[in-house]
Amino acid sequence: MTTDIKKIREEFPILNSRIGDRPLVYFDNTATSQTPQEVVESIAHLYEHTKANVHRGVHTLSQEATDLQEHTRRRVCEYINASGIEEIIFTRGTTEAINLVAASYGGAFFRDGDEVILTVMEHHANIVPWQLLQARHNIRLRVVDIDDEGNLDIEQYKSLFNERTVFASFCHISNVLGTVNPVKEMIAFAHSKGVPVLVDGAQASPHLKIDVRDLDADFYAFSSHKMYGPTGVGVLYGRRELLEKMPPWQGGGEMIKHVSFEKTTFADLPFKFEAGTPDFIDIAAFAKALDFIEKTGLDNIRAHEEDLLEYCTAEMMKIPGMRIFGTAPGKAAVISFLVGDIHPYDLGLLLDKMGIAVRTGHHCAQPLMDRFGIPGTVRASFAVYNTREEVDTFITALKRVISMF
Ligand code: ALA
Repeated sequence: MTTDIKKIREEFPILNSRIGDRPLVYFDNTATSQTPQEVVESIAHLYEHTKANVHRGVHTLSQEATDLQEHTRRRVCEYINASGIEEIIFTRGTTEAINLVAASYGGAFFRDGDEVILTVMEHHANIVPWQLLQARHNIRLRVVDIDDEGNLDIEQYKSLFNERTVFASFCHISNVLGTVNPVKEMIAFAHSKGVPVLVDGAQASPHLKIDVRDLDADFYAFSSHKMYGPTGVGVLYGRRELLEKMPPWQGGGEMIKHVSFEKTTFADLPFKFEAGTPDFIDIAAFAKALDFIEKTGLDNIRAHEEDLLEYCTAEMMKIPGMRIFGTAPGKAAVISFLVGDIHPYDLGLLLDKMGIAVRTGHHCAQPLMDRFGIPGTVRASFAVYNTREEVDTFITALKRVISMF
């Protein structure tokens, strides 16, 4: 595996960066992962050779650009085992995908008094869109708690369903705790009560095989930039029957069949939900990131990340005053921590001086921070190109920083 990782690292020139006089150790992969050179070069190539607006021209370049975008749609469809390309909607990211569902599905079908089930470990992207809806409908958010290890309270989840429950929305993997939720079981339970489900897959899609039909998800949202792909591209998978009955959420070019001042009709799926010029260059390049993941192998990626997680956790636990938030069995390679009463920003800033990139703060999960009674954490998260040597560098730097307090 070591040789393979060396080879993989060569595909990511940014990993040779220096921060001051220190080599970069990039442990902020949960925020965004780095992008292999092949993907970066494909973006430049597209700008140089194939930049033309998609679905709008008979000219050759426009046809080529359209083919490349639609190739990615087919790749994504296969990648997550959707039933058809009309179920794959390109968005700017996971956040926009969730906003789309909340605004369109929730806006059209929720009524005053309806209840939506979320969990306390949600990213703000899966909380605030539902709260925004409350300006239109007096809906109630019901929140599932966790235990101190970060396991979701599944019995409480089940107990929250009642005749007013109209929707459930939860993350597959927590961006703070690394907890992998039993989403298949959770979806099956929601469906037994006739309730549709959205899964925020932003943290799962880089690490786990996503099979939306096996999960039986109604909606599944994820982002390219966490999957070794370009920024600005997300995917909303939606079950066709639901997407068909949902109204468009943004109006503009490409989402229409015919426009007149008297009556406008809308395009078929998936274009009904893709108003305006999409980020077609980055969408086209996203297919190359999927190629990278498939070539590397999700099983290899996961196994390598788990090795780093186990190794790093064991070393960290030797440090006096170390508190790790999120210790659920089978968790993903994310370590959120605090040491004694050192403020996470101070830790993060000093680690940066030593070349270590980690995220600090509330990680867009303030309700979860409140649940633990803390202002924030430091978070180290791994990707396939990280190494045990980098973990050693991180541990040495961490001990040094701690000794300064
Ligand atoms: N959601 C991303 C994170 O957890 C940005 O860092």
